Amino acid sequence: MAGEKSRILIIGGTGYLGKFVVGASARSGHPTFALVRNTAPSDPAKAQLLETFKNSGVTILKGDLNDHGSLVEAIKQVDVVISTVGPPQAIEQLKIIAAIKEVGTIKRFLPSEFGLDVDRIHKVEPATSVFQLKAQIRRVIEAEGIPYTIVCSNCFAGYFLPTLAQPEPPKDKVVILGDGNPKAIFVCEEDIAAYTIKAVDDPRTLNKILYVQPPANIYSFNELVSLWERKTGKTLEKIYLPEEEVLKKIQESPFPFNILLAVNYLVFVKGDTANIEIEPSIGVDASELYPDVKYTSVQEYLNRVIQ
Ligand SMILES: NC(=O)c1ccc[n+]([C@@H]2O[C@H](COP(=O)([O-])OP(=O)(O)OC[C@H]3O[C@@H](n4cnc5c(N)ncnc54)[C@H](OP(=O)(O)O)[C@@H]3O)[C@@H](O)[C@H]2O)c1
Repeated sequence: MAGEKSRILIIGGTGYLGKFVVGASARSGHPTFALVRNTAPSDPAKAQLLETFKNSGVTILKGDLNDHGSLVEAIKQVDVVISTVGPPQAIEQLKIIAAIKEVGTIKRFLPSEFGLDVDRIHKVEPATSVFQLKAQIRRVIEAEGIPYTIVCSNCFAGYFLPTLAQPEPPKDKVVILGDGNPKAIFVCEEDIAAYTIKAVDDPRTLNKILYVQPPANIYSFNELVSLWERKTGKTLEKIYLPEEEVLKKIQESPFPFNILLAVNYLVFVKGDTANIEIEPSIGVDASELYPDVKYTSVQEYLNRVIQ
């Protein structure tokens, strides 16, 4: 296998992030496998996605987290397993870990993280309970001695930028959590996928956290609003919500808005993406390792979404 590209299995490849990871893996020449629950979906968009996978040479394997045999059979065919399952399946990744242990030949496992560094952020419920599940998966991977890479990709550009983290794209006013000064990091989903695939065969990312923090994509909320105003040519009324009010609003909001608001609180009030100092014994910077990735800047992304 020396010099050859690892065979990669993606579990959750039909999901929001997963489809980018499947695409990046196939494009970069890795023999790519996608474990899919329904290989003949009635949803035309999902059916089209599976067609696109097949046309790019991806092998579709039928399987389910709840079918241990299907996981083992799929994992036997590959060297690397990437999970991009959604937040509701976070703890179910224990089933992937059990299958990886049984097969015993996996060179790298990338669990479904792709967000904040859950071991190094402030606590605020109900986000903390959700993030604890990802932390728990980290602890089991470490305890089982499975080779891993954790991808902390910070804020998905597609989740935060088209609306500036508001319920709708701002037209006249914008609500700013806290004072709007802490910096935050935004990364385009295609770029998260590209960095992730670069990391799978890289010894420098073995048993490390890969922090995705492209230098041109670090902005405070106030700076983002200014950028938005410059691009739209319109000044927005700015409504600042002090920290205590944000905390109160989180507690009063129904699910899932309480979780979304709590995540926004960590990102924009506590600065939990850009405030992380990379500790070299546990983490590496994706932009330093892979300067050849021509990532989409926040400016370019906003040009795309602001008409
Ligand atoms: N940093 C950020 O801003 C940000 C934003 C969003 C998400 N995230 C993180 O990104 C990761 C991926 O989230 P996502 O929103 O992309 O996920 P998603 O869209 O909910 O996709 C979930 C995937 O898991 C599959 N799946 C669900 N149950 C399964 C089962 N029992 N067996 C096999 N597959 C199953 C789904 O398959 P089907 O197609 O069959 O349903 C789908 O492919 C998560 O860790 C999430 O926390 C980060």
